[in-house]
Amino acid sequence: MDAIDKRKSVRKYKERFLNADEITKILHLLEMPFTGPGRNEIKFEFIAQDLDEDKGKVGTYGFVSGKYGAILGWCPKESYAYVDYGFTLENIALNLIDMDLGTCWLGGSFSRKNVIEAIGTDQRDSKTIPGILTVGYEAQGKRIRDVFISGTKRRRKELEECFFDSGLQPIEDEERKYILEGVRWAPSAMNRQPTRVIWDGNKVHFYLADAKIDLRYIDIGIAMCHFERRSRNEGLKGKWIIDSEAPKPNWLYVYTYLIE
Ligand SMILES: Cc1cc2nc3c(=O)[nH]c(=O)nc-3n(C[C@H](O)[C@H](O)[C@H](O)COP(=O)(O)O)c2cc1C
Repeated sequence: MDAIDKRKSVRKYKERFLNADEITKILHLLEMPFTGPGRNEIKFEFIAQDLDEDKGKVGTYGFVSGKYGAILGWCPKESYAYVDYGFTLENIALNLIDMDLGTCWLGGSFSRKNVIEAIGTDQRDSKTIPGILTVGYEAQGKRIRDVFISGTKRRRKELEECFFDSGLQPIEDEERKYILEGVRWAPSAMNRQPTRVIWDGNKVHFYLADAKIDLRYIDIGIAMCHFERRSRNEGLKGKWIIDSEAPKPNWLYVYTYLIE
């Protein structure tokens, strides 16, 4: 089972905070040069304090319980920078999952004011913190809110509702389907799953079916991260480009993965 298969949003953490060894590993991880397709440099920081709400740090309005830290960074207020933010922070999240830690993206349910106080830098004039990633040891059992947010089981749209071949027909190829399953299970804000893909030969075009809010660009960055990881594991190499010849269906074009 790879990190993509193992991943789910963890909102209930153990009452035991991360140990020094894990904190060190996280700090090392954040020093690694993760960049997104747009090469925006986003410096991620780890708030290692105990973020339990009673202690008044991040403040997750009751959405997250137990003891956890958070990873976050300042991001330029620009669509393609949000894509990079999602891409890069999800890469970090999948590495944390490989370390057997639980994570959860939060776009709305955290207090920006508290987070800014905790990191001690304020770049609000030019940048924003579009989302944070909580991290800790997963506790058994679900929170009532988990059930409310994700449904009784974690639901996803069917593969053929989101991913298509060049004739906008369902994808038949088994390897492509396996890679796209990894994209299908990517997390997204409010589980909206806005990413659409057209796989045309060595070009894989990524679109947003809904780009009304900035968080959707984070969602597609996360989906692209899952795509790149799975396809690399399958031995496919490639790079992200903007393809002026990409088909223009009724969705907003964002990026193309060019398989070499
Ligand atoms: C950008 C982004 C923002 C999110 N914001 C929140 C949030 O504010 N509160 C929350 O409880 N979950 C949040 N989530 C988690 C989603 O609800 C979750 O990914 C989705 O329901 C799918 O469930 P899963 O991650 O367990 O597969 C967010 C996810 C993403 C990607």
